[in-house]
Amino acid sequence: MTDLKKHFAVIGNPIHHSLSPQIHRAFAKEAGLDIDYEAVLSPIDEFKNTIHKLIAKKLSGANVTLPFKKEGYQLVTSHSNHAKIAQAVNTLEFKEDEIIGHNTDGIGLVRDLEQNLHIDLKNKKILLIGAGGAAEGVIYSILEKNPSELTLTNRTIEKSNVIQNKMDVHAKSFDVNLNVIEIAKCPLQYFDLIINATSTSLNNADLDLNHKVFHEGSLAYDMMYGKESSFMREAQSQGSKTSDGLGMLVEQAAEAFFIWHQIKPQTKSVIESLRAL
Ligand code: ATR
Repeated sequence: MTDLKKHFAVIGNPIHHSLSPQIHRAFAKEAGLDIDYEAVLSPIDEFKNTIHKLIAKKLSGANVTLPFKKEGYQLVTSHSNHAKIAQAVNTLEFKEDEIIGHNTDGIGLVRDLEQNLHIDLKNKKILLIGAGGAAEGVIYSILEKNPSELTLTNRTIEKSNVIQNKMDVHAKSFDVNLNVIEIAKCPLQYFDLIINATSTSLNNADLDLNHKVFHEGSLAYDMMYGKESSFMREAQSQGSKTSDGLGMLVEQAAEAFFIWHQIKPQTKSVIESLRAL
């Protein structure tokens, strides 16, 4: 008998904490689709093998999470523009001999900001803290929204310079002033939106950021989720609005769901139910 049920997975290391199975099952239930979605732990040096085993098991697609997003990009046979620019994937489609790579992280961030938090990025002054994969994965999507300015900063400032050099051509095409500044020299009360794309909230570490960069009119967005970070607490102490990255997580999943099923799921109720946990 043919198995009509489609199978999906999220692959990472570690993976036990992943909310992706819950999110995709909730989307599928609401859409009336009978899918199977599992979390797969891949040994660090076995990612390629893990993918090929899943393809042999006739998976239709997979999400890729830390630390495999860059390695995933190396395996694809074709890719979306966002995946190419980030040189990283978080969503794969398996079609016969093809592996198509996508990156929906930036779209997820921008949708959470614009649709859920009602922040129009056009003409805004944005500070992005961090220069790892998380930061690099969202920059192009931010530029596409035509902020007036995107300032990059990071503990290791040389890494921000490398990203600036890579992204400059795109910043010019969207007419965005893209610059780099040392974290301790960020102008106070200047930015409309301050995004923490570092791993400090995971590690309970502090950023060397003057809390006066936050102000009543700003939004401090932490791409991490699950707890209130010191980044968010400092922002609140200055009267700034804050958000964690739970909405981004659900929105990036929604875009992956759309790529696989051509159905746009409702995200609000899923965000609310995860928030309530
Ligand atoms: P990810 O793929 O999640 O972005 P990563 O590539 O390891 O992970 O990047 C982690 C980011 O968090 C980097 O910007 C890192 O700063 P450095 O480039 O200077 O390492 C930042 N980060 C991690 N711990 C930090 C800390 N204690 N203070 C400031 N920044 C930190």
